Amino acid sequence: MAFIEWNSALDVGVGEFNDQHKELCALLNKLFDAMHQGKGREVIGSVLSGLGDYTVYHFSAEEKRFAEFAYPNAAAHKAEHDDFVRRVEELRSKYDAGSFTVTVEALDFIKKWISDHIMKADKAYAAFFRSKGLS
Ligand SMILES: [Fe+2]
Ligand SMILES: [Fe+2]
Repeated sequence: MAFIEWNSALDVGVGEFNDQHKELCALLNKLFDAMHQGKGREVIGSVLSGLGDYTVYHFSAEEKRFAEFAYPNAAAHKAEHDDFVRRVEELRSKYDAGSFTVTVEALDFIKKWISDHIMKADKAYAAFFRSKGLS
């Protein structure tokens, strides 16, 4: 079984964002697999940056839509994104410095953050975007 699986509990009602969330899950599974298969630092480091980069891309895609439709809760939502990006960047630089290895705890933290954020903050925009004709 995959480490994290996209399911209907994560459905935010907007196709482009559901697709991006599925990709986030796929990248996190890739990191989980790389760790469990005992891949080298180089492979794990590049999977970790791939996940970080895609996260940044996805957050900016949501934020573009917030701006486009003047989503009232954009600032608080963006603050959550910024906080997570900072934490992932921190992990990445600790990893590069050799003072951090990808652990089950780190993977659990990322998984929990992603699921909680999608189920609360992202789902909160579902009705708003639907009312703007986005699906
Ligand atoms: Fe999202
Ligand atoms: Fe979000």
